[in-house]
Amino acid sequence: MPWNPDLYHKFQSERAAPFYDLLALVDVRPNLKVIDLGCGSGELTRQLADRLPHSRVTGLDNSPDMLKKAASFSTSSLIFQLGDQSTLTGEWDLIFSNAALQWSENHAELIPRLFGCLAPGGQIAVQVPSNHNHISHQIYRETAAEEPFRSILAGFQRHSPVLTIDEYARLLFECSAEAITVFEKVYPHVLEDSDAVVEWISGTALIPYFERLGSHKDEFLQVLRAKMRSALPGSPVFYPFRRILFSAKKPN
Ligand SMILES: C[S@@+](CC[C@H](N)C(=O)[O-])C[C@H]1O[C@@H](n2cnc3c(N)ncnc32)[C@H](O)[C@@H]1O
Repeated sequence: MPWNPDLYHKFQSERAAPFYDLLALVDVRPNLKVIDLGCGSGELTRQLADRLPHSRVTGLDNSPDMLKKAASFSTSSLIFQLGDQSTLTGEWDLIFSNAALQWSENHAELIPRLFGCLAPGGQIAVQVPSNHNHISHQIYRETAAEEPFRSILAGFQRHSPVLTIDEYARLLFECSAEAITVFEKVYPHVLEDSDAVVEWISGTALIPYFERLGSHKDEFLQVLRAKMRSALPGSPVFYPFRRILFSAKKPN
């Protein structure tokens, strides 16, 4: 998918808050073999690496544009690689992923598979957005389902593969995981107006739609902005953002 690092970074401080909550769940030990799945442009992977003494950290992403930015954050103990998070192999002491696994399907199969890539005593720590029922998401799905966009998109809709907190807890339990922590948190963002909400989702959730809309992208955005203005009037706009964080360990 054509990620745009500049647009993604427009709300960098808001997007970084859950990363710090996820980092707080990591059991800091020396000499870890670590992978950051969907590392993006690398600055947060660098913060993860700086936090883990004498560890070897790999940032993995399938976007060459994101990795181009990430390259400047590499060190002798931090490398970046092109690859698909859903086909991870190898054995890792820490599998970390902030705001990326929502781009891979079938979490009921994916989470146990990733858990299977942990070394004994290893930890998985994941943050995924669970905001898919917010009005902003309802509006773009509704717009995509209406003409002329329904035909332009050939009926395409992307449904979030993110599960409920209970389902993640059960999946981890069924993997015989220890120290299971799963919670959902609302991050209370205040954005300038409803156009800013459209800009926010343009940097993430709308990417697969833009890919398919081609030259109709601006037309789609215009309709979206108008609908969003009626749904979220005034300035500033309160944008509560739900996210799921979970962590668990593989028994020794
Ligand atoms: C929302 S960004 C998060 C980036 C970074 N982890 C952060 O917290 O800022 C999602 C990232 O996941 C990457 N991504 C999406 N699908 C992927 C896949 N199947 N394999 C690897 N990376 C993927 C995207 O290229 C993008 O860089």
